[in-house]
Amino acid sequence: MSKCIAILTGGGDCPGLNAVIRGVVRAATLKRNWQVLGIEDGFDGLVGTPRLRPLTIESVRGILPRGGTILGTSNRGNPLAYPVQEGGKTKLIDVSDQVLANFRRIGAEALVAVGGDGTLKIARRLNELGIPVVAVPKTIDNDLRATDVTFGYSTAVETVTEALDRLHTTAESHHRVIVVEVMGRDAGWIALESGIAGSADVILIPEIPFDLNLVCQAIQRRTDHGSRFSIVVVAEGAFPGSGGKIVQATAEDNRGVERLGGIGRFVAAKLEACLADMESRVVVLGHVQRGGSPCPFDRILGSRFGVRAVELIEQGQFDHMVSLRGRAVVAVPLAEAIDALNRVDPAGELVRTAESLGIFLGR
Ligand code: F6P
Repeated sequence: MSKCIAILTGGGDCPGLNAVIRGVVRAATLKRNWQVLGIEDGFDGLVGTPRLRPLTIESVRGILPRGGTILGTSNRGNPLAYPVQEGGKTKLIDVSDQVLANFRRIGAEALVAVGGDGTLKIARRLNELGIPVVAVPKTIDNDLRATDVTFGYSTAVETVTEALDRLHTTAESHHRVIVVEVMGRDAGWIALESGIAGSADVILIPEIPFDLNLVCQAIQRRTDHGSRFSIVVVAEGAFPGSGGKIVQATAEDNRGVERLGGIGRFVAAKLEACLADMESRVVVLGHVQRGGSPCPFDRILGSRFGVRAVELIEQGQFDHMVSLRGRAVVAVPLAEAIDALNRVDPAGELVRTAESLGIFLGR
């Protein structure tokens, strides 16, 4: 009997997931004649009755340009802290024994877990418990430290940049401040890189607590010099030095995942109050940043990661994650991948570049 492996996609979706799935399936079946099982909706698909589908060359045909994930995903189904209802209340319990039993039952020899920070932590624990795991890093936030970049990020930056280009013309025509709130959780990569690419005037990121009075003065200076509009990019996790980040729902109230959002509206209101005769508007780009067709870079990186994951399984190199280092795809220990987040260095070259370009970073 030929070897059988399984794959799942966990956490928030991002462009390029289908490239990984296709890469795994093609590398496993074409040269090696292995079988591939797709687990639906992340680790959720291994809780209760397993939700699976065989993945073949035919079933992955045409998916490379498609956003999202054909397997479905979940950023709520952590089997180590699984939400169950008890007496009208949500309780978190460990259902990893179900996941282990189901994984044994489906007869796969290894699992490719594609996901971000949360998924990688679960994958690490399941590997310790006996499921041979190879991980693939994904996230639009680019906040994983053990890889130079995650796939999905470049497409998100492109999407935001295009939005900033569009917003420029309307901001300029109406002499307004447009505040654009972007995703990224506690990392400012999307805000910073798309802000540079989209020629923002102000960029506010979680790594640099901002001073609203200084932001106001920076915009006023632009007006005084004849630029009667401004584009402010604010990361959802950014916050003023005088206060904390704005949370829509705490992890306890949101099945284990903190939900951010609202800082754009806050900043726009404050700026309108302090800038005489200047209207502000807020645009929350939200999940638009996660959708759409992956850019070529993300299609290629996703494909390379998928193929490399199969090679790692062949070599028995489990408890590792594929990673881009320079121009090479390498394997790094999963422990290294989850030990800390990749955040913007407030004294780093990218921040200095932005500031040298005259972009105000709130300090
Ligand atoms: O981690 C990816 C991400 O898109 C974050 O940038 C954002 O904070 C979060 O997921 C949104 O998650 P949800 O899909 O649960 O709203």
